[in-house]
Amino acid sequence: MIVLLGATGYVGSAIAARLRQLGREFAAPSHRDLDLTSKDAVAGWFAGRTPEFVINAVGFTGRPNIDGTEIEKWHCLQANTVVPGVLAEVLGSRGIRWGHVSSGCIFHGAHAKGSGFTEEEEPEFAISDPRAGWYARTKWMAEKLLRDAPGVVIWRPRIPFNAEDNERNYLTKLMRYERLLEVRNSISQLDEFAAAAVQSLEDRIPDGIYNATNPGAILTSEVANALRAHGICRKDFQYFTDETDFLSHPGRVFRASCVLDPGKLAAHGIRMLEVHESLEKTLRAWKKA
Ligand SMILES: NC(=O)c1ccc[n+]([C@@H]2O[C@H](COP(=O)([O-])OP(=O)(O)OC[C@H]3O[C@@H](n4cnc5c(N)ncnc54)[C@H](OP(=O)(O)O)[C@@H]3O)[C@@H](O)[C@H]2O)c1
Repeated sequence: MIVLLGATGYVGSAIAARLRQLGREFAAPSHRDLDLTSKDAVAGWFAGRTPEFVINAVGFTGRPNIDGTEIEKWHCLQANTVVPGVLAEVLGSRGIRWGHVSSGCIFHGAHAKGSGFTEEEEPEFAISDPRAGWYARTKWMAEKLLRDAPGVVIWRPRIPFNAEDNERNYLTKLMRYERLLEVRNSISQLDEFAAAAVQSLEDRIPDGIYNATNPGAILTSEVANALRAHGICRKDFQYFTDETDFLSHPGRVFRASCVLDPGKLAAHGIRMLEVHESLEKTLRAWKKA
């Protein structure tokens, strides 16, 4: 048996779909069944159970977007940092292997020649850049907590997208925004991410951090143009002049844009498609809501 936490979420539901596709049985206790912020409750729930592995897809990314995490700081801290901290203690003491969904948003930028950050590098943006928001800091604190924890694989996806028109999908978001910010990012096709996450635990890759993005990077305008080219959106996309223009709106938090190097995951035989190829494949399969 496998345990999936956060199965009702955008990322968790893709992992649940992948497990179903593979015919793997899993338990998915809900928020209401189990208080994941309580060590006693979590230890009690796992007392009679020894799952093959656990996947933690619990988190809080803000509503309607990341700006919301600056308002609901306590909820954000609990979901993104306290929950993985509790899991590390309980699952670690039981010797249960598990995976945690972190985020690449703890980095900003890329190397001088455009190459991506590796897992060896410290996420200076989340640690010390005053522009980093609360969400990035809570995700970094969780990584810090888990760094020495036994039996945990940490995945860093970025800006998930898939073929389902959904308010949490990056592609849907782009189509709904009034204006776009032109930035270069590594992004993660959600179904590929879910498959990679499950495979990494099934293949028992070594514990540690893994960037889990599609190889390469893509500009906002390349994604917008592809949406137009596929006839999914006919809008004449408008852009902010620059980051200062974007941030001039009250309550808007600085967005990290970054390039990550997913080579470590690929070195363990877990490959995601090159980003442009993955986007094309996703757009060909697009399902309007
Ligand atoms: N979406 C992104 O853009 C993105 C990008 C990179 C990484 N991630 C990471 O992926 C993970 C999942 O994000 P998501 O986009 O799937 O979020 P989501 O759609 O909001 O889903 C969050 C899930 O976590 C559960 N949850 C929230 N707070 C909880 C708590 N205190 N105790 C127990 N369960 C709780 C929710 O349960 P209920 O439905 O019962 O509230 C839901 O199942 C997060 O760690 C996030 O940082 C997301």
